[in-house]
Amino acid sequence: MLPHFRYSRDCVEFWKHSGEGMKQAFQIGRISVDPPLILAPMAGITDQYFRRILKRIGGVGVVSMEFISSEALTRGSERTRSMMQFHEDERPLAIQIYGSDAARMSEAAAYVQELGADIVDINMGCPANKILKGCAGAALMGDLELAEGIIRACRARVRIPLTVKFRLGLDDERSNYLDLGRACEAGGADGVALHARTARQMFSGKADWNRIRNLKETLSIPVSGNGDILAPEDALAMFSETGCDGVMIGRGAMQNPWIFRQTAARLRDEEAPPVTLEDRREMILGHFRMLRDQEEERFALHKIRTFTGWYTHGLPKGKHLRQKISTLPTVDAFLNEVESFFDSFSSGTAAA
Ligand SMILES: Cc1cc2nc3c(=O)[nH]c(=O)nc-3n(C[C@H](O)[C@H](O)[C@H](O)COP(=O)(O)O)c2cc1C
Repeated sequence: MLPHFRYSRDCVEFWKHSGEGMKQAFQIGRISVDPPLILAPMAGITDQYFRRILKRIGGVGVVSMEFISSEALTRGSERTRSMMQFHEDERPLAIQIYGSDAARMSEAAAYVQELGADIVDINMGCPANKILKGCAGAALMGDLELAEGIIRACRARVRIPLTVKFRLGLDDERSNYLDLGRACEAGGADGVALHARTARQMFSGKADWNRIRNLKETLSIPVSGNGDILAPEDALAMFSETGCDGVMIGRGAMQNPWIFRQTAARLRDEEAPPVTLEDRREMILGHFRMLRDQEEERFALHKIRTFTGWYTHGLPKGKHLRQKISTLPTVDAFLNEVESFFDSFSSGTAAA
């Protein structure tokens, strides 16, 4: 048993040199998650463009689509169905569905399977009011019978691996993640992911990784840990502190799309090559060009605004680019601005 440290470099070093617990691939049903690193589902973020950017960079074992409403999907919403496009190069891909009606959820799961996804994931952790009002997302943690009914109904409908993502509970007083974990296992889920905060916390405070360890010790299906991984060291620490099978990364991937490749290298006891300005330029332009070529201008600009904020985080003069995006009328104008922004580094003017 490893000693228990938190966020400590010592811990990572100990674990690395102890030869114990070097994390390898793990299985979610028949799907091998290799490396054991998962892109967290993020509404408005983990669309096909962002997923493909991460796959090109490498190091991600499974990518997740933004969550999909089972109601909208089973009522035939064209907009919802168009959000569900993916490419072969994204595999293995998990599609997450949410809802509160077992029959509709199982129908949605069947649609996900028919579409060819590798994993169907059920959302039982979303704390947004809009979702809670429909008794879906984290609200299901307040009704474990319904939650288990949904899991069983989905299990009965699909052959592909089934996973469930949830939080610690509705709040501290109703922290029932172990019960829900057991219900997932009993209902036939092939794995779970725990975002170690309560629904009431939303994104505040720190994720409590001790609870991930508790869940791992309680269940025999694979457990992925989630919450506050911002650097490869954090992922290594989560593996060693909790014994989790996989680490799921959300916001850290928006700030640093290389985080999976860097972490995967560390898991092999190697250092990933440093990220150069040229890498960053190619990544940003590659992402935005895909949006320009495939999306309507207004939507592409909206997405670019979102991502520019994350991508330029910590870049010298990144603020300049963030300010520009609100004034430039077209995607092409913005792409030109990105090019000259990076050119100014090579010509040395950015430092001026
Ligand atoms: C913009 C945004 C959208 C999210 N959308 C979803 C979602 O659709 N489904 C879900 O299960 N979790 C969603 N989450 C939660 C993340 O999957 C993840 O659990 C959370 O961000 C904690 O992980 P992190 O600290 O690595 O970001 C979202 C988070 C963010 C920031």
